[in-house]
Amino acid sequence: MKPNHKDIDHILVSEEQLKAKVAELGAQISRDYAGRDLLMVSILKGAVVFMADLMRAVTIPCAIDFMVVSSYGGANTSSTGLVKIIKDLDQDLTGKDVLIVEDILDTGITLSNLVPMLQLRNPRSVRLCTILSKPSRRKAEIAPDYCGFEVPDEFVVGYGLDYDERYRNLPYVGVLKPEVYSK
Ligand code: IMP
Ligand code: MG
Repeated sequence: MKPNHKDIDHILVSEEQLKAKVAELGAQISRDYAGRDLLMVSILKGAVVFMADLMRAVTIPCAIDFMVVSSYGGANTSSTGLVKIIKDLDQDLTGKDVLIVEDILDTGITLSNLVPMLQLRNPRSVRLCTILSKPSRRKAEIAPDYCGFEVPDEFVVGYGLDYDERYRNLPYVGVLKPEVYSK
């Protein structure tokens, strides 16, 4: 399939593939969390598109919440284990089954720091669902409990993912043309 945007070199995961996978993940999560107090937590902003689709594929009662985090000083200093919470959750996690909904698991540094911070709040469980994963980039010891697609080590945009805040609204996951970076 040809991309409908001039800056996209090729499509990595099509709209149809995303749709089918989200339905599959939603069904699986609905089975796994039946009878539980499910709270889906999305990390803004990249995961917002996946969250909106996934929550509608989940057929059991669930609540949603959002948070904004940033790693201190980039890749090197973030190994100190510090994640700065810019916007915290509104809800108390006590006894909840927290499912973190992410756009992409890359180095894993952000989430490997965030999960222990959430675990201190006495949830019943904390698990991770990501639509994309780049296993070859992993630096921290973290694996998703639910994963949509493993992608190669290429910078991807669309389906919530951005380059310089753009391309989040593309309905597929694509690879940018190299000349877009060198502009
Ligand atoms: P990490 O797993 O701590 O390295 O951080 C993952 C975050 O980096 C994601 O939530 C994205 O916001 C961003 N990111 C990583 N890889 C890409 C990519 O290929 N395209 C767009 N954003 C990315
Ligand atoms: Mg981003």
